[in-house]
Amino acid sequence: MSSSLPPLASPLVRWTLVDDVALVTIDNPPVNAAGRDVRAGLAEAIARAGENPRIAAVVIAAAGRTFVAGADIREFGEPPVEPFLPDVCAAIETSRKPVVVAVHGTALGGGCELALAAHARVAAPGTRFAQPEIDLGIVPGAGGTQRLPRLVGMIAAIEMIGGGRRLATEEAARLGLVDEIATDDLVAAAVAHARRLVGHSPRRTRDLTVPPFDRVAAEAAVVAVENKARRQISPGEAARVTLAAADLPFDEGVARERATFLRLVASDQAAALRHVFFAEREAARIERIAGVAPRPVARFGVVGAGTMGAGIAVAAVDAGFEVTVVEMNDEAVAKGRDRIAAIRDRAVASGRLSAAAASQKLAATRLATDLSALAGADLVVEAVFDDLAVKRDLFARLAAVVRPDCVLATNTSYLDPNAIGEGLAHPERLVGLHFFSPAEVMRLAEVVDTATTSAETLATVVAVARKLGKLPIVTGVCEGFAGNRIWAVFRRECEFMLEEGALPQEIDAALEAFGLPMGPFAVFDLSGLDIAWSLRKRKAATRSPDERYVAVADRLCEMGRFGRKTGAGWYAYPEGRRTADPLVARLCEEESASKGIARRAFTAQEIVDRLIAVMAVEGERILAEGIVARASDIDLVFVTGYGWPRWLGGPMYRAGRLDRP
Ligand code: 3HC
Repeated sequence: MSSSLPPLASPLVRWTLVDDVALVTIDNPPVNAAGRDVRAGLAEAIARAGENPRIAAVVIAAAGRTFVAGADIREFGEPPVEPFLPDVCAAIETSRKPVVVAVHGTALGGGCELALAAHARVAAPGTRFAQPEIDLGIVPGAGGTQRLPRLVGMIAAIEMIGGGRRLATEEAARLGLVDEIATDDLVAAAVAHARRLVGHSPRRTRDLTVPPFDRVAAEAAVVAVENKARRQISPGEAARVTLAAADLPFDEGVARERATFLRLVASDQAAALRHVFFAEREAARIERIAGVAPRPVARFGVVGAGTMGAGIAVAAVDAGFEVTVVEMNDEAVAKGRDRIAAIRDRAVASGRLSAAAASQKLAATRLATDLSALAGADLVVEAVFDDLAVKRDLFARLAAVVRPDCVLATNTSYLDPNAIGEGLAHPERLVGLHFFSPAEVMRLAEVVDTATTSAETLATVVAVARKLGKLPIVTGVCEGFAGNRIWAVFRRECEFMLEEGALPQEIDAALEAFGLPMGPFAVFDLSGLDIAWSLRKRKAATRSPDERYVAVADRLCEMGRFGRKTGAGWYAYPEGRRTADPLVARLCEEESASKGIARRAFTAQEIVDRLIAVMAVEGERILAEGIVARASDIDLVFVTGYGWPRWLGGPMYRAGRLDRP
């Protein structure tokens, strides 16, 4: 029987008495983040429950779609405000009256830590437990690193806290994190569970010892986390402080964790990762399609089974679409099938896919030589040769085959989609869908809103991109769209610096020290210099003689140095090792001399600052032209499409911090 209790001061936490159990409900939509008022409400409820003789036990539950999804990330940029989450967890744990949590949806970060501090955890099926703090550049800050290994064991704790492993209810129960799975009414089960604990001394996680574990395996797990994280600091720190739980008394372990948390939460990496977290949520708000329902898409067509088309087909099959790929003839189909099979083989070799699943997926990918195979398609992406006449012709032939409402998407990188669509019947169904290579892996999909694209088409393609596991960023039409346009400016500036006195290896070293996984000249060598060269040759006739043009890349190509595939490019590769080449330095010097430029030394900082600055200037132009909606969309383009680590935050974000150390 329920009866009321004098209300709590917090507007976000309410309570009621169910017989002798206080049912405390957190109600902070949308995800019940443990912000100040939630923490205050919980602290007050636990304190008052301790003093109230009518209350024998406490259940903490959450309203809405999920249990607590973590601390309130918006508070991280501000000085911490009492009561602190670790203190609330400590109050729960040391309560003399049993405290049980009723968990549904997700218990993430601080939410998982609240659950760990309780005396028992009752969970609904389908709940997920995780400590995703590393993704925000921090470590758990409310005892998670010390309590989790005591409950689930050291190796599983390191994998969760350092490696982002998530536990579903059943696995959490098997490992000892969940005490009861409530198949029926979660809150009723938790109340009954709490009542059963009354009269027994509460089981405090802090008092448990970490179950015995294999030290060598645990150290190896920490090292694996560190290696995978590369230069991101938080995963290694999180794994190490978790491992310390086996060696330190609980309070000392918690103090170490808190100190690490406070140090990292103020770090540059954490600030950048928070920026990216909120940028992703912002990017989901696309004004032009607010309230517009996407059309259902089940049948997905791809034209062209080259590297791009094969990758797109793989992503589409993985997302559950019914996929048909069309190529020109039997030979091209066979090659396309081989490309798709090679992607599947790589997934099998790396353990991401079973051999059986791979052959099933391969069998599910239909290949054909006739466009009529796409007659029933809901959407077709073309990924054929990037040539205007070829694409126009293809769309004209496609339009004769598909339904008038079939969405037609072009994966062009540099052509003008408006020109591609000229003369197309029902041009409102035309849209750009620009994938990044390898298309089955890279998260970015630029969705290009052409002059004729309807809101419904745009909404449909955005929904399809999300289903493909991509991050859709809507861009307007301009040369190179958002990403390649800024990349071109970046690339050009790198070449200007070559001419002014920097060497390729210096520019690469500066950018690699900054955080990019590979400097641009090493990237050019990897992807090959010949395609850009033929593009430059094609454009040479129309290039203004006043345009500043650095010809070192042309000189390299004229020597047959197309990059790694020819054994040399911007670098030499003796025994496969990237090595600075005096010949390239000489070419740079000759280029400077031919233009009367006195070469000078560049510092690494100067190189990075100058590149960020030109990217930001181009980004501002793109914003002013309305090509993308917001600066943070440009950051996401680089983080999800150009290999920028999330912890760098993107070029626009970095430009805002140029004056900081
Ligand atoms: N703090 C503040 N706001 C949050 C939040 C959080 N922890 N988690 C989500 N939100 C906000 C989002 O910004 C978004 O706001 P908006 O509508 O204004 O854009 C809204 O909640 C809904 O979020 P999503 O759009 O992401 O909704 P989904 O349903 O797709 O996903 C989720 C829900 C899985 C909970 C996802 O939001 C998520 O992963 N959140 C982050 C979880 C996390 O990292 N928790 C750890 C925080 S750090 C911590 O707890 C430190 C502790 O150890 C002390």
